[in-house]
Amino acid sequence: MDQKKVDLFAHKSKNWDMKSRRVTNARNIAELIVKNIELNKRMEIMDFGAGTGLLGFFIAPFVKKIVAVDNSPSMLLEFKKKCDEFQCETEAVEKDLSCEILDCKFDGIISSMTIHHLEDTLTLFRKFYDMLHEGGFIAIADLDTEDGSFHSDNTGVFHHGFDREVLQAVVEEAGFKDVKFDTASTINKPHRDFTVFLLTARK
Ligand SMILES: C[S@@+](CC[C@H](N)C(=O)[O-])C[C@H]1O[C@@H](n2cnc3c(N)ncnc32)[C@H](O)[C@@H]1O
Repeated sequence: MDQKKVDLFAHKSKNWDMKSRRVTNARNIAELIVKNIELNKRMEIMDFGAGTGLLGFFIAPFVKKIVAVDNSPSMLLEFKKKCDEFQCETEAVEKDLSCEILDCKFDGIISSMTIHHLEDTLTLFRKFYDMLHEGGFIAIADLDTEDGSFHSDNTGVFHHGFDREVLQAVVEEAGFKDVKFDTASTINKPHRDFTVFLLTARK
C-alpha cells in the first residue's frame, strides 16, 4: 500500500472537536494571532494542516478567505461539514505538503499543531516562503520541546516539539525575517502540562 495515502487521522476525525482542550488551544492561538498580526477582510489565508478547521474558525471573522490544506480526507470532510458556519469564504484542498506543492500565493499562512508531523522542516518553510506574496506572514503554532509523551501513539510524529532557537535558524534559512516567538497556550494533560509557541515571521 502507498504509505502516502494512509489517513493517519481517520479514526480521530469524527470526534476531533469534542475535546474541549483542543478547542481552547485553537482559540488561544487564534487570539494571539489576532493580537500580533494586522489582519483584514481582503486577506486570503492558508491554514496548513487545518484538520477540522478549529483554528481557521476563530480567524475567519478577520479575513476574506481561509483555504484549509490537509492530507487527511477524513479531517477535511469534517471541515466541509461545518464550513458554512465560518464568517468568511472557505475552500478545502487535499494536499500533502511533505511531497507536494500548492501553486498559489497567500497573504498569510497559519497552522496549529501540524508541523511536528513533517520530517523536513526546512523544506516545508521554503514552500511556505514560495506560497506567500511579498510581505506576507506566517503564524505557526506547535509544541515546545517535549519528552515524547504528548501523543499516546507517536506514529507520524517526527518531532517531539521544537527548540525555539533551532526552529528560528531554520525559518531564517528559508528566507523569513522578523521572526518572533510567544507562548500561545498551555495544554494540561493528566500527567503533565505542555506549552505551545506561536512563531510569527514575514517574507
Ligand atoms: C494534530 S492535527 C491538527 C489539526 C488542527 N490544526 C487543529 O489544531 O485542530 C494535524 C493535522 O495536520 C495534518 N497533516 C499532517 N501531515 C500533513 C502533511 N504532510 N500535509 C498536510 N497536512 C498534514 C493532519 O492530517 C491533521 O489534520
